[in-house]
Amino acid sequence: MSTTGSTATELYCPKCPERYGLDRIINLCTCGSPLLVDYNYDKAAGLIGPEVLSRRTGSMWKYVELLPVQHEGNIVTLSEGDTPLLRSKTIGPSLNLLNLYFKDESVNPTGSFKARGMSAAVSRAKELGIEKLIAPTAGNAGSALAAYAARAGLKSHIIMPRETPKPFMVDCVYHGATMELVEGSIKHCGELAAKKVNSEGWFSMATLKEPYRIEGKKTMGYEIAEQLDWKLPDVIIYPTGGGTGLIGMWKAFAEMEKLGWVTGKKPKMVSVQSEGCAPIVRAFEQGKTEADLWENPQTIAAGLRVPGAIGDFLILQAVRESGGLAVTVTEKELVDDTRELAAREGIFSAPEGGAVVATVKKLLASGFIEPNDTVIAFITGSGYKYLDTLEAALRGPGS
Ligand SMILES: Cc1ncc(COP(=O)(O)O)c(C=O)c1O
Ligand SMILES: [Zn+2]
Repeated sequence: MSTTGSTATELYCPKCPERYGLDRIINLCTCGSPLLVDYNYDKAAGLIGPEVLSRRTGSMWKYVELLPVQHEGNIVTLSEGDTPLLRSKTIGPSLNLLNLYFKDESVNPTGSFKARGMSAAVSRAKELGIEKLIAPTAGNAGSALAAYAARAGLKSHIIMPRETPKPFMVDCVYHGATMELVEGSIKHCGELAAKKVNSEGWFSMATLKEPYRIEGKKTMGYEIAEQLDWKLPDVIIYPTGGGTGLIGMWKAFAEMEKLGWVTGKKPKMVSVQSEGCAPIVRAFEQGKTEADLWENPQTIAAGLRVPGAIGDFLILQAVRESGGLAVTVTEKELVDDTRELAAREGIFSAPEGGAVVATVKKLLASGFIEPNDTVIAFITGSGYKYLDTLEAALRGPGS
């Protein structure tokens, strides 16, 4: 099997000095922290850079030297990534914000940015000979795991809250996953998944308990740099649940700095949550380095209904280091702006995207965003998976 040219070297712990070989089948560090992938950046810089990348086309696998998969035959892909960066035609100009862009992740396989993470993680699972993959999910990660496991010929088991929008359940079943519905939030799903890891030998693909999903997600950071001609934006607005996308992009910016691909100030990272479930915002405002569990999480943006994230300290660190913010929006704001995004820009987004647009307006009004800033609003998923939710929202709150 031919090698990919990956320059990955080891897994390292962001909390303690521990390091692990890439051939280890592992979830968390012995200290309980998520693990991250290290690379030989000098070697990578000799293999790829802006010039080489400009001649490559296709999926996120164009950055293969900075991804963890060792052998080409193990890459499990449905052509994820390489998504459009759309300049705002109406919303930005109407706010006098001329450099507002939407990174449209809804066009990924299975309808969200989760495809990137699962493509990387399932590829590594295949490479390590793991056969049974389990994940708790708010919806999109489950769809993606089921699809990529199907593509790889591996088994998947998906555990989601009973109130998850139906399309997420239907596509998991079509992809041949086994499924369980649980009363409560993704936290309860995670507890059941952990039991099944112990009792039935599944491997956990849970957000940040698995070290490679974040590597797929970080390609969003490389891509926006490349799409902006290797100039990083001033502000990135990102809807945060488990936080892999935000942490992954922050890792990508540090990597690109080491590689010499970008210079200057890194983007301010803004983490958005709903008022009904905002553990990261609360911790940010209280000056804490970790977030307390949010009791009774409520929001129609299912991906944001994450009461506690194992990578909380990494999200808060990225937001603070970048000079960013963590902010909430109301349920009304996120619904109204999902509609505005569709009606005025032609982008039919998951409600998480509406939360991002509402945040753009808030931060412009507060002066945090300046009119000549380049701002990237992340549209993380498609509205088509949320048709029932969005239809009910047309009838007004609580319907
Ligand atoms: C559409 C959408 N946006 C945002 C998120 C939150 O993503 P993350 O876990 O990377 O914070 C999710 C998670 O399920 C999602 O489905
Ligand atoms: Zn550790």
